[in-house]
Amino acid sequence: MPDVMGIRGYDFVEFYVGSAKMTAYWFAKALNLEITGYLGPETGVRDRVSYYLTKNNLRFVVTSPARPDCYEVYGFTNRHGDGVKRWAVEVDSVDDAFRYATQNGAVMVAKPHRLEDHHGYVEQAAIRLYDDTELVYINRDNFNHIFKPGYCEPRQKIAIAAQDTGLIGVDHIVGNVRENEMNLWADYFNKTMGFETFVDFKPGDIGTKYSALLSKVVRTKDSKIKNPINEPFEGLKKSQIEEYIEQYHGSGVQHIAINTDDIVKSIAALRANGIEFLQIPDTYYDMLAKREDLNITEDINDLKKHGILCDIEGSGYLLQLFTKPIGDRPTFFFEFIQRKGAEGFGKGNFQSLFESIELDQKLRGNLDREPSELMPPC
Ligand code: FE2
Repeated sequence: MPDVMGIRGYDFVEFYVGSAKMTAYWFAKALNLEITGYLGPETGVRDRVSYYLTKNNLRFVVTSPARPDCYEVYGFTNRHGDGVKRWAVEVDSVDDAFRYATQNGAVMVAKPHRLEDHHGYVEQAAIRLYDDTELVYINRDNFNHIFKPGYCEPRQKIAIAAQDTGLIGVDHIVGNVRENEMNLWADYFNKTMGFETFVDFKPGDIGTKYSALLSKVVRTKDSKIKNPINEPFEGLKKSQIEEYIEQYHGSGVQHIAINTDDIVKSIAALRANGIEFLQIPDTYYDMLAKREDLNITEDINDLKKHGILCDIEGSGYLLQLFTKPIGDRPTFFFEFIQRKGAEGFGKGNFQSLFESIELDQKLRGNLDREPSELMPPC
């Protein structure tokens, strides 16, 4: 079914961070992205520095402030730590997409406008998402240089040795919101963007006996854009979503899933590049091997060796793995996913996954609701 907004797919994701230069190095080294663009004082922008990183369909921007009056970026990183400020969808017409969204109740951040230089122009507009995040509509059909006007090639090409991760593009982007906000944001996507609710995880569907969450997945009708939204649900201990909201100081993007067509190779390379993943117990693979509906082409020993999760969905399945939070706060993380005829998000893996997250939450002293005395000072 054609998309009412003329959405072609994901475009870029921009992170606001403490140090763009050092984060760009991490993205290049750990994820094996290429630093293809730069914007900063040398290019005439005085208050901030941005690096543009790419690989196949992945386009990430990392931005940090270059002086104290860059309040927009400082304000974000002071409150949230490093995190996703905006994610963009490529559209046929920025004007049409923005008009549809705002006429249906979207909160405007930036009206359609052109960024222009001698290489052409880029059109974009933005609406509000969650507390402090933006969704950008962008069209770069009339621009034939690096990313957007203002970007140039990095002044120095630094060779950063990294194993080839084979990452392809964004599969889905997940938001965490407060209790009772999930329906509000799901409706916001459905009304303003012409999305539909694809999956609705109800109380009891997701969680251990200690911590739980509710989740709805909204997506474009052609399924190019998939946006799960989580909210905490009552449990004996603190939900991982509650921990995120506390540590991020608000609602925002929890994780980005990146797809690959050879997850065993990708995870081996990502581990070699230094990425830390959630730990999956060996018993998970003993249980998996016993399943009668297991019909996968991968060697289960390879999955076990690299700690990759497998969820069977009818005649298809998906393989996935989650990193630990990549920054200093237990907030944003990445997921890597290979879909083999499965459209879901790994519901069958939630139990093992959450038990692993709860172990880390406990170590941080964030699993109990009361101030924890679990860990003595180092
Ligand atoms: Fe995910």
